[in-house]
Amino acid sequence: MTTPETRNLAIRTVMMPRDTNHLGSIFGGHILSLLDLAAGQHARTVAMKKYLTKVMKEVNFIAPVFVGDIVSFYTTTVKKGRTSITIKVDVEALRGVDTAQTIQVTTAEVVMVAVNDKNEPITI
Ligand SMILES: CC(C)(COP(=O)(O)OP(=O)(O)OC[C@H]1O[C@@H](n2cnc3c(N)ncnc32)[C@H](O)[C@@H]1OP(=O)(O)O)[C@@H](O)C(=O)NCCC(=O)NCCS
Repeated sequence: MTTPETRNLAIRTVMMPRDTNHLGSIFGGHILSLLDLAAGQHARTVAMKKYLTKVMKEVNFIAPVFVGDIVSFYTTTVKKGRTSITIKVDVEALRGVDTAQTIQVTTAEVVMVAVNDKNEPITI
């Protein structure tokens, strides 16, 4: 189970105007890109290998993200297989100044596969 004690902070960054969509909120593709990076960083803490993203599943955009939000990507190992690591990513936004609140904005599960120099799966 993911708890504040068992999860790792993989990435924390501020959302910038360049990352918005035509509606003025943050482009989902930007969040996906950071999700991917967060999962990759987490995998390297489990075993120091080179990884490729095999699967992104159950991506749930729960609430929109806005310019100025401080967005944190928390990661947890769900499963360590022979060549793959399945990682849960929980994304939270810290919003506001005087009355800042933390909002759960996205969750996802990512499968990263360890590969050799020929990009073939290898045992972790
Ligand atoms: C990653 C890659 C090297 C894996 O090679 P593959 O031959 O497809 O891999 P396999 O079928 O042997 O599976 C590798 C691992 O992924 C797991 N896996 C594969 N499909 C899965 C799925 N749908 N859900 C969960 N796990 C999955 C397998 O169970 C295996 O894990 P295990 O060894 O721990 O049991 C290859 O698919 C690839 O190069 N993909 C493109 C990667 C890429 O470019 N990513 C960036 C996207 S732009």
